Amino acid sequence: MEAYLLDWANLLLRWLHVITAIAWIGSSFYFVFLDNNLLKPTSPDLLDKGVDGAMWAVHGGGFYNPQKYMVAPQKIHSKLHWFYWESYSTWLSGFALFTVLYLFNAGTFLIDKTVFDWSPTAAILTSLAFLVAFWFVYDAVCRVFGFKKNGEAIVAGLMIVVVAFASWLACELFAGRAAFLLVGAMIATAMSANVFFWIIPGQKTVVAAMTSGQPYDADALAIHGKRGKQRSVHNTYFTLPVIIAMLSNHYGFLYTAEHNWVVLFVLMLAGALIRQFFVQRHGWHHGRAKNPWPFAALGLMMLVALIAWMRPAPIAPVALPAVVDVAQVVQVVEQHCVMCHGAAVQSKGVRLDSPQALQQHAQAVYQQSVVTRQMPMNNSTGITEQERALIGQWFNSGAAVR
Ligand code: HEC
Repeated sequence: MEAYLLDWANLLLRWLHVITAIAWIGSSFYFVFLDNNLLKPTSPDLLDKGVDGAMWAVHGGGFYNPQKYMVAPQKIHSKLHWFYWESYSTWLSGFALFTVLYLFNAGTFLIDKTVFDWSPTAAILTSLAFLVAFWFVYDAVCRVFGFKKNGEAIVAGLMIVVVAFASWLACELFAGRAAFLLVGAMIATAMSANVFFWIIPGQKTVVAAMTSGQPYDADALAIHGKRGKQRSVHNTYFTLPVIIAMLSNHYGFLYTAEHNWVVLFVLMLAGALIRQFFVQRHGWHHGRAKNPWPFAALGLMMLVALIAWMRPAPIAPVALPAVVDVAQVVQVVEQHCVMCHGAAVQSKGVRLDSPQALQQHAQAVYQQSVVTRQMPMNNSTGITEQERALIGQWFNSGAAVR
């Protein structure tokens, strides 16, 4: 019953998480697009009002004319919309999902004893420390170098090194699947923390000054706008890396690869480069930025190189009988699956301890152990290629029980 309810919690939280993430990243993409497409107004009344940039767009049957004020307009005429619940709800639902999936079942999902043998408590606390530590490191790097000369390049360079190190460390400590997710969650936590600790408080300060009725020093307030913009731009570079880290969870061949941390790191770096292409492309259309295509080319080349590097070694052809006797499959499954899918433990409600049960789940068994290779979990039972091939041949020859 508990496992059944956890499955529902997992599904519903995942649904919520994907929806909120779409809303958050969608608005992040939109505002980066908007900022990069604003043009300086020429009309005196707009300039007098303090408008720094404007654009025209048509969407869904209507025309839109957003205008950006620097630092702030003299007056806000109607309800002011804030953008933070997209971010907070993404983090909250993501953290809840991480808890339900990885922390509740730390012994199965967080820990892979062949990677690092430690207690669930230690693994849970360390995984939480990853989330916190990354934020402190990233925030310190931004505070120290953010507004220095070439600050953006220094921040980017240092963060690449930190993320590479964190990927390596996570893959040394946790089951591959958990490690990949944790690195994504760690970066995503910094994204939400940017919103919570800097972007929104900065905006609140500016709004409070404007609405106080007292004269205020616009130059002194400008730092809030600049810092908010900086963190918001960092967030946009984090989006593609975070999404690939989260999606990688469904692809066993990525996180079970021999040098899995390199795989994760290259995927994320390619994502950041491809995001840079999109950001720069907006400005390029207006002649304000250099040709962005080298970034896309570099990102794609890294992906192609990764695909080539990871290609599986050809398996020496082994003679398999045309029709595999179920007894052989039962033997493999008893050795490699039944400890988690037997009378005592039935992971995901799947029991595989009789030929009939095997036949009932034949499709899923084939998918999990031959196609996606997610099973055995983390290959904790050391199934061989030959044994996988045997299961495959049994399924493809009709999955007969006798
Ligand atoms: C160390 C424990 C463990 C071993 C060994 C193991 N499994 Fe699993 N299995 C699990 C867990 C945990 C889940 C639930 C996975 C999830 O929810 O992502 C699962 C899920 C499954 C599912 C259902 C997948 C789904 O999403 O519906 C199938 C089918 C399956 N395993 C088949 C196998 C086969 C076949 C083997 C042996 C070749 C095997 N398992 C070995 C732990 C294990």
